[in-house]
Amino acid sequence: MAIRIKDNVFTLQTKNSTYQMKADDKGILLHTYYGKKTDETDYSYMISMADRGFSGNIYEAREDRTYSLDFLPQEFPVCGSGDYRVDCLHADLGEGVNDCLMFFDSYRTYPGKYSLEGLPAMFASQEEADTLEILLKDNQEEVYLHLLYGVYENYDIITRAAVIENRTDREVRLSRVLSACLDMDHDGMDLIHFYGRHAGEREMERISLFHGITELRSTRGTSSHQHNPFVILADKNTTEEEGNCYGCSLLYSGGFHMQAEVDQFHQTRLVMGMDDSDFTWSLLPGESFVTPEAAFAFSSQGLARLSHCYHDGFQGSLIRSSWKNKRRPILVNNWEATYFDFNGDKLLKIAKEAAELELDMLVLDDGWFGKRDNDDSGLGDWFVNEKKLGCSLKELVDQVNGMGLMFGLWFEPEMISEDSDLYRNHPEWAMVVPGRKPIKGRAQLVLDMTRKDVLDYVKERLFSIMDSANIQYIKWDMNRSVAAAYSALLPRERQGELRHRYVLGLYEVLEELLQRYPDLLLEGCSGGGGRFDAGMLYYAPQIWCSDNTDAIERLNIQYGTSFGYPMSSVSAHVSVCPNHQNGRVTPFKTRGICAMQGTFGYELDLSRMTEAEKEEAREQIHTFKERYRLFQFGDYYRITSPLENRDFTAWEYADKDGTEAYLGVIYTDLHGNPAAQSVKFRGLLPEGRYQMWKDKEPAGIYTGAALMNGGILLPVPVENYDSCQIYVRLEE
Ligand code: GLA
Repeated sequence: MAIRIKDNVFTLQTKNSTYQMKADDKGILLHTYYGKKTDETDYSYMISMADRGFSGNIYEAREDRTYSLDFLPQEFPVCGSGDYRVDCLHADLGEGVNDCLMFFDSYRTYPGKYSLEGLPAMFASQEEADTLEILLKDNQEEVYLHLLYGVYENYDIITRAAVIENRTDREVRLSRVLSACLDMDHDGMDLIHFYGRHAGEREMERISLFHGITELRSTRGTSSHQHNPFVILADKNTTEEEGNCYGCSLLYSGGFHMQAEVDQFHQTRLVMGMDDSDFTWSLLPGESFVTPEAAFAFSSQGLARLSHCYHDGFQGSLIRSSWKNKRRPILVNNWEATYFDFNGDKLLKIAKEAAELELDMLVLDDGWFGKRDNDDSGLGDWFVNEKKLGCSLKELVDQVNGMGLMFGLWFEPEMISEDSDLYRNHPEWAMVVPGRKPIKGRAQLVLDMTRKDVLDYVKERLFSIMDSANIQYIKWDMNRSVAAAYSALLPRERQGELRHRYVLGLYEVLEELLQRYPDLLLEGCSGGGGRFDAGMLYYAPQIWCSDNTDAIERLNIQYGTSFGYPMSSVSAHVSVCPNHQNGRVTPFKTRGICAMQGTFGYELDLSRMTEAEKEEAREQIHTFKERYRLFQFGDYYRITSPLENRDFTAWEYADKDGTEAYLGVIYTDLHGNPAAQSVKFRGLLPEGRYQMWKDKEPAGIYTGAALMNGGILLPVPVENYDSCQIYVRLEE
């Protein structure tokens, strides 16, 4: 077991990291160590105690004025304890003030991993992880706090979640419950985070933390395009290859809140959890509230290693689809090919070309249901528009299957258009404040996913369409942010529960869908990558990364996404040029190489491709099929950063045993009389001898040491946005 306990010191050991906490003699659960693997010494000796002015003392400290929660490192700081820093819990135990104080009560451990009712969580067999559950109790009231720790020795991941339990006979009101806190005894750290916008998601930014609070949040009801619930704290000198860094990923698809505070004594605190703006939760006697899970990882070997912890951990113990170990289908999606303007014949024409190119699947996007010839109407009316298709869905799917292709379908189940039969019959199903005008987004309203009747309707429609034809994939979209939301069934004083209940409703439908159709491949989507979070990965092993399909802008988006998410979850397509989002023209080859950075597909009218493009596409499809093991399961390295290197972006996949590697390079600038450009491989065997191919042409034999230390010269680009692929394999 990876959990060692002695004298109320709890040490969690993973392969390369150690996490430690201690219930001290007052009963406060202190955080004593997280970092590079070390022994089980009680590291509380490193905590300095002093009588600090204006840092109050809990009563239990008696005459000891050197004991203050205002500076002590803690596992789960709470409001009302004399700790003025950012905290995890605001709970009104009945007096109208947020005043609670949690003391150690007991603990238990067990092999395997805890699960969280109604919420996504990493899973494990009894051999893969261990659980520690520490029970704290308020010093006066029967209010308990269960702190859950999942220890993944092999992945260097420690998950955390908290459960608040009300064993009193009166209501407890919560107004903030975050998932976890990480206290560190020093300042001078960088925060790496991923901001963005629609069509420009997860732009990496690295900033220095200052004395005060830095915060990131989404109040949009979804994890959002604007900020991502994954952050990294890194030492100043940490690079891709060296240095200490800590990751924190929230497994939650609703709004979130992250704060990083550097305090008066130069200590750093990170807290992460669900969005607490407008949040309240009424916890009745006997009830519990479960927070989303946060997954922490530590690397002393730089950012690449930190990413590998998440890539491997999420691939192995979060993604649970029957597709996780299979090659993902290469699909063609008709959205950018036809938008709403299609019929059955047009789709079959694309399918025929797809079959000839040996693609695996046709995905029918928006517009196949209700009255939906533009984005003003029809959402909610999930009945097939047979007139538009010219046949039933089953007939269409059977024909597509007959060509040797799988079939996938787009849905946006959480939405309702005002111009829909559903709205005409059930206006109260939209989350609109009574008597007020709603805020619209893409002309649509959001369904009240907290209501059982709404969930029943959504499930009935989904299941009935699923049962009507051989649908093997669903793209689950969500095309607006939640705003001015109200639920007709929740009493006034409980409207603050709406957004979290919405997410729980969404998870309920997704769970039931997957239980019913275990072989279904679900692709997440929210106007591209507006809900790209680890919570969604539990249901959807791949997520449409961005509505921006331009190969050059995608370099940034995919670069940012790669820090916290496995590349097999990054859905990426080749589309036409000039690109529909920004008008840029890039070579077809480059678009293919860029899309192969993730889960590969096409999003254009295949029937309009030139012969040369078809030839190129055949080549790309062949490469992806041939190399998918590397792309899906290899170690991913960011060789250059598109934010720093203006000339080209390079990335690499290396097989875990170092037998082969693939390097993708896309040039982003051209120069007259250009300087030589080179890159160094990573993850090879130094003593191995590797045969190299540049764009399929043999390009010499080199040792792994040479490729990793000397590097290789890149070909000189000959046109705008040129690209190349370099492949190396151990000599036989
Ligand atoms: C969103 C998605 C697109 C497409 C459209 C359809 O914007 O991100 O890929 O499915 O909706 O309306």
